[in-house]
Amino acid sequence: MKICTSITDLRQSILDIRVKMQKPTIGFVPTMGFLHEGHASLIKRARSLDDVVIVSIFVNPLQFGPNEDYNRYPREIEQDEKLCEGLGVDLIFAPTALEMYGADGCETSIHVAYLGDHLCGASRPGHFDGVCTVVAKLFQIVTPDRAYFGKKDAQQWRIVRRMVKDLSMPVEIVPCEIVREEDGLAKSSRNVYLSPEERQEAVHLRKTLLLIQDAAIKGQRDVKQLKSLALAYLADHPLVALDYLELVDGDTLQPCAAIRGEAPTLCAIAAYVGKTRLIDNIELELRA
Ligand code: PAJ
Repeated sequence: MKICTSITDLRQSILDIRVKMQKPTIGFVPTMGFLHEGHASLIKRARSLDDVVIVSIFVNPLQFGPNEDYNRYPREIEQDEKLCEGLGVDLIFAPTALEMYGADGCETSIHVAYLGDHLCGASRPGHFDGVCTVVAKLFQIVTPDRAYFGKKDAQQWRIVRRMVKDLSMPVEIVPCEIVREEDGLAKSSRNVYLSPEERQEAVHLRKTLLLIQDAAIKGQRDVKQLKSLALAYLADHPLVALDYLELVDGDTLQPCAAIRGEAPTLCAIAAYVGKTRLIDNIELELRA
């Protein structure tokens, strides 16, 4: 496994691979590091579908707001390298912010309209522009055939897929299922921020989603009713401070007033547990 920290070195390494192997497919897993089993599942999927697997590890300053956790975001590169090595990754790209954006920063920004209007797009202004800009730049450098994204970030993979379509980028976006802890909490690099008490309470994000899922299966279709059910549940768990709970059309991500059988509905939640902001979501099933 090779580790590249410069864009030039990575480009040359990919060129070498392309010459050595006959038309290899390149699978790419972009990450911000502090890798866990969620990331590992993306890497394994890439390993099963592609000839070459490249993982990027880069905490992207463009996608953090001024009061967010960019500086304290957990970084553990040696551990990440070991995990990648064990999963058969061919190349790691781990640049510094200076290498990625230069001393004069990045003045180009990619904005995908509408899909970013609600959910995290509303709570974290500019976040998805930062994500799209870095992902587009990484695609330019890595030139992958497929790129793997987790459904944990329900809005992110849909926005990236739209960017790829709109800009005719020659890459297939592969969404991968959410990996969870035993009690249902979605794995996240940010779970490390949680105190033991907060960690116990964090499970209520998932439980809220399951409550809504259960009511939908029992026939409740009205979004207002479903939301009030969830709010009543969360009222008993004051350590979980709701940022948003939305039921949106699974394709357009626009809010809906009622669940309709013919269109997929996504139920997404974001909440602070202590100071830590966590997200989760469920694609609603209407039948048991
Ligand atoms: P990061 O949070 O490190 O996540 C990297 C990828 O792993 C994302 O596609 C995310 O959805 C996926 N992932 C995280 N937790 C997961 C889980 N529990 N189950 C399944 N997949 C999971 O998302 C980012 O980094 C950044 O925004 C990035 C795309 C790298 C751009 O900077």
